[in-house]
Amino acid sequence: MKTFPTSAVWYFGILFISVSLITTESSEVQVVGPADRVVALAGDDIILPCSLKPNVSAENMTVQWTRLNLKGTEIPHLYRDNRDSYADQSTSYKRRTSMFHEELKNGNVSLMLKRVTLSDAGSYWCFIPTLMKETTVQLFVGAVSQPVISINGTKDWGVVLKCESGGWFPEPEMEWLDSSGTILPADGPLERHRDSEGRYTVRRHVTVVNTDTNRFTCRVHQTEINHLKETEIHVPDDVFPKLPYRWKVGLIAAAVVVLLAASILFFYSICVYMWRKHTEKEIRQQMEEQDHPDHPSLVQ
Ligand SMILES: *[C@@H]1O[C@H](CO)[C@@H](O)[C@H](O)[C@H]1NC(C)=O
Ligand SMILES: *[C@@H]1O[C@H](CO)[C@@H](O)[C@H](O)[C@H]1NC(C)=O
Repeated sequence: MKTFPTSAVWYFGILFISVSLITTESSEVQVVGPADRVVALAGDDIILPCSLKPNVSAENMTVQWTRLNLKGTEIPHLYRDNRDSYADQSTSYKRRTSMFHEELKNGNVSLMLKRVTLSDAGSYWCFIPTLMKETTVQLFVGAVSQPVISINGTKDWGVVLKCESGGWFPEPEMEWLDSSGTILPADGPLERHRDSEGRYTVRRHVTVVNTDTNRFTCRVHQTEINHLKETEIHVPDDVFPKLPYRWKVGLIAAAVVVLLAASILFFYSICVYMWRKHTEKEIRQQMEEQDHPDHPSLVQ
């Protein structure tokens, strides 16, 4: 019996070696994302990092940026046949994405996403079908805004200040501070409200009394996105409550009465003292005259 033809052995041998080489090469190349999630603010232009390690060229590969969310699968960006392919792109990402074409030869397949919105937050999948490899990139989107301070009337001897800041995500903290940076006790807890887009509006009142600077600061901060916004107000002196007129008249009248009473008491005490001094002197004179009977008038 004739064994396998030599050519066939060679054929299968070469095929086997090629397949193992290709498999080895593709299994060595990794698709790598960032170590941490990407944190952005609404409105920012950001990069979702993704690259091949070792850095083989991705120019001739297909790169599919996919997003998995509740609505299903969206395709923010697709690179295929050496160019960007917009046919299957999700409408919400239209004209907002791009890849760095000059970086593809270095295996850099990062995605540029412009004007991010809160609804862009989530998991992105950087998938290279050519290699059957992928990685995920987490995008966290926050939103901030400048707090607004208003004077909300007076209470007792103080002025009530209101601070409000809308459009935050995630929910922030709000504090009132004096000019030296000390946290002031607010009038009650933080008031919060969430709109249909998921953004938070926070509000807090404080009653302040007249200080030497009359400067007060409202601070809003969010630790997850590491952002802080402050607004300062200078409350004019004349905004602080004055003594009412009736109180003023009453206080002056009371002061006059007290003064009058004090003066009367004072004069009365002086009179009593003088009178006592005078009588004492008379008594002493009388006693002296008794001791010296040569005085004619006192001879009995
Ligand atoms: C990729 O490797 C080449 C050398 O092979 C090097 O010149 C280049 O800087 C590398 N690029 C990156 C993004 O690491
Ligand atoms: C990929 O290219 C972009 C744009 O030049 C750059 O900002 C980013 O750092 C690159 N990423 C890597 C991993 O080299």
